[in-house]
Amino acid sequence: MSVLFVCLGNICRSPIAEGIFRKLANEANENIKIDSAGTGSWHIGERSDPRARRVGEMNGCPMNHLARQLQSKDFEEYDHIVVMDAANMRDVLAWPGARKEKISYLLQWDPDNDDLEVPDPYYGEEDGFDNVYAMCYSACENLLSAIVNSRRIVEP
Ligand code: 4NP
Repeated sequence: MSVLFVCLGNICRSPIAEGIFRKLANEANENIKIDSAGTGSWHIGERSDPRARRVGEMNGCPMNHLARQLQSKDFEEYDHIVVMDAANMRDVLAWPGARKEKISYLLQWDPDNDDLEVPDPYYGEEDGFDNVYAMCYSACENLLSAIVNSRRIVEP
C-alpha cells in the first residue's frame, strides 16, 4: 500500500501530512510507502518551510523531506494520491497519466470535517500552520484506518 500527498509548493501542507501519516503508520506497525510532491516546480530540492518543520517537530513528526514535483509515474507507483485543495485537484486531474480513481482530497477522509480544502498557510501567520497540522492529523488518522480496514475485507 502506498500514499502520496500533493500540494502546490511541497514545502508546507503535503510534507506536514506526510510527516503525520508516517508517524501514525509507524505507531500502528503498518508498512506503507509514503511520500509527498508538489504540482509546482519553484521549490524543488528545498527543505520544508521552517514554520512547517516547527509544527512537525513540536508534535513528534520530524520532517526531512526535500521538495519534489509530481511525476506521471507517481500515478502508477502510488495507490492513493491525496490532494489539499481544489487547485491541486484540478492540476492533478489534468496531469499526463492521471489516474482519476486514485485521487482524493485529504479532508474527504475526515467525516467530522465539513471543509474540503486544507488552506494554504504560506502567505499567512504561524498559527495557520497549527491549523493545518490539526486538520491534517484527523484526516490522516481516518485515512490510515480506511486503508487498514480495506485490507481486512475478505471476499465471501
Ligand atoms: P504548499 O504552500 O503548497 O502548502 O507547500 C505553498 C508553498 C509555496 C508557494 C505556494 C504555496 N509558493 O507560491 O511559492
